[in-house]
Formats: sequence, C-alpha cells, structure tokens
Amino acid sequence: MKTESGLEAKVDPTRAVNWCTRSDISPLRYPGGKRKLAPFIADLISKTRVRPALFVEPFAGGASVSISLLEADYVDAIALADADPLVASFWATVFSSDADRLANMIYDAKVTLEEWIRLKQADVAPGIDAAFKCIFLNRTSFSGSLHQKAGPIGGMAQASDYKIDCRFNQTKIAERILELSRLRHRVRFVRNETYRKTIRDIRKTAVFRDTPDKVFWYLDPPFFAKADKLYRCHFAKQDHIELAAATRTIPGNWLLSYDAHVDAQALYESHPGYALVNLQYSARIDEKQRLVAKEIVVANIIADLRAKGELQHGAEIIPIPLRRQKASANIEVLERTFAIG
Ligand SMILES: C[S@@+](CC[C@H](N)C(=O)[O-])C[C@H]1O[C@@H](n2cnc3c(N)ncnc32)[C@H](O)[C@@H]1O
Repeated sequence: MKTESGLEAKVDPTRAVNWCTRSDISPLRYPGGKRKLAPFIADLISKTRVRPALFVEPFAGGASVSISLLEADYVDAIALADADPLVASFWATVFSSDADRLANMIYDAKVTLEEWIRLKQADVAPGIDAAFKCIFLNRTSFSGSLHQKAGPIGGMAQASDYKIDCRFNQTKIAERILELSRLRHRVRFVRNETYRKTIRDIRKTAVFRDTPDKVFWYLDPPFFAKADKLYRCHFAKQDHIELAAATRTIPGNWLLSYDAHVDAQALYESHPGYALVNLQYSARIDEKQRLVAKEIVVANIIADLRAKGELQHGAEIIPIPLRRQKASANIEVLERTFAIG
C-alpha cells in the first residue's frame, strides 16, 4: 500500500501492537509526558484500520506520543504545535537543517549554575537560541519544568547529592536530536500557536480536505491541578470547558487525555468515547502492589468502535505483548496491560 507521503506502509493495521517504549524517546523531560500511552493509542489506531496520514499534536510538550508513533511507523507524518515559544522553537529546530548546530551546542555546553542563571534571564528570539534555552533549562531545572519559578536541580547552593548536570547527558541528548532530525521529511510542520489556530490550519490542508478520516489528533492539554506551577502556558478552568466544546469541531479522528481529576471526569464522563485507562507496569512498588497510573481518555474513535461493537463498554483488558527486542540500558521492556473501564 502506498501512503500519502509516498512511503511504503510497512505496518499491517490489523496486527496486535507489539513494542516497548524508550524512556528517552523525547529529549525533553516533560511534566506529565505521555509516552506510556503511545502503545494504547497505536492499538486503537490499529482497531480503526485507517492508517493516519497526519498525526497532529497541538499541545506538543515533549511530543513523545507523536515521535513514538512515527518511529514505530504507525503514521505517515506528524504536525506539532505548542503555545510555549521555547518548546515550539525546540521542535522546529530539531526537525530542521539546524539540528546539527543545536546538537553541537548541547555537546559543548557548560552545565553550570552560572549558565543556568544566564539562560534563565536571557531574552531570546524564536529559533536555535530559544531551542537551546529550552533544552538546557528543561534538563537542569527541577522536574523538567520551564516555568519561571522552577529552580535548578540541586538548588542555588548546589549542596545536594544531585547537582545541576545530573539529568543532562550531553552526548546522549545530542545524539538523540540527530537521530530525530532524520525524520524531518515526515514532519509536516512545527508551529508556535494555540490549539485553536492549529485546528484552523489543519482545516486548510489538502490531506484534511481529501481524506479527513486520515487526520488523527492527540490532545494532551495542561493538567487541571498544579498546571500553573508546571507549564509556562497553562489553562484556567474556563479554558478546559472551552476545549471540551472545541472537540466537537475537531476535523478528523481525535483522542484526548487527562490525568485523572474529578473536574476532567465531570467534563467528559457523559461522552460516549470516555474511558479510564489503567497503565499497569511490570515495575513493582513492592511485592504485592503494582504501580498503576490512571488516565482519562476521551476519543471519538472509542465512541465509534463501541457503536460498532468492536470495543466493549466496561472493563476491557487489552494485553500488549512484549516486543522481541533486546533490552538495553535505554530501553525499558514493559509488559503492559491496558484496562478500559
Ligand atoms: C500536558 S503538556 C503536553 C505534554 C506532552 N503530551 C508530552 O507527552 O510531553 C501541555 C502542553 O500544552 C501547552 N499549551 C498550554 N496552553 C496551550 C494552548 N492554548 N494551545 C497550545 N498549547 C498549549 C503547554 O505549553 C504544554 O507544553
């Protein structure tokens, strides 16, 4: 089968999802990064039997879901946008001919408190300098947060065992950026804009006009709780309500995720595509207890699959088998099951 981009579609859309995800899939450490949802989304895409020609992530952040699906060849191309100019500059540079310059800047960076203070105060224009500021502060600030109030890892006194450079493996990050940059021909665009503008932009694309069912949206808006402390661009309660209304106008298939929060539940639980997803990891907290992360997922494709009887209401367990791949230090092999309820 030839895809829109002219690439041979290697993935049988009906096969079971069979992979594992790397913890370093994104060079950005992102608060609430959603890479662990990628196999679940891939599985849903497989169930729709329509390979996305364009996968759009309008709240890109660390963009780990888009990158996972692109690298695993579940989608032809991706489009990324974020309202934060630092984040948008980062991705625009990674997927541009400046990627090697950015990789060199990272490789040569002096990871010191003085450099952290300089960059924190620096007023940078969109582009490679903003991209560097983004990755530097992301890898050296507490929780990966780019928020103005986020402090350096190890504190201003650098008295902790964890110093400012403990999360900044310069060689690995530079190499990963070069690796990702090779996918640039499959990145339709990276823009610094709000999700509303992205919706308008995608409506104008030929892929949407010709094959709207081949446009797939993954929306991961800022959290309900504490988002004002994590992201430079966050949502007030009214923004969440407006996004819920905007989902009715999204062109194509879409899936939205939220960390489980009572307000998100109240906003979406009556939607026919509402589901709670439990990610159960093989990593154990102790002998008996498994680490369970609960996500709220809402998707028009879940509603469609349920209407066709291809996805049941109630607790459905989707087992994700292990990928036949050697585990390395970079690769977490996770035996997963997804419980939709
Ligand atoms: C929860 S994070 C996304 C995390 C991402 N899914 C990942 O796996 O790393 C939400 C992102 O939305 C961005 N954002 C906030 N308000 C926005 C808006 N109105 N339009 C587009 N992006 C926005 C924030 O800058 C932040 O990067």
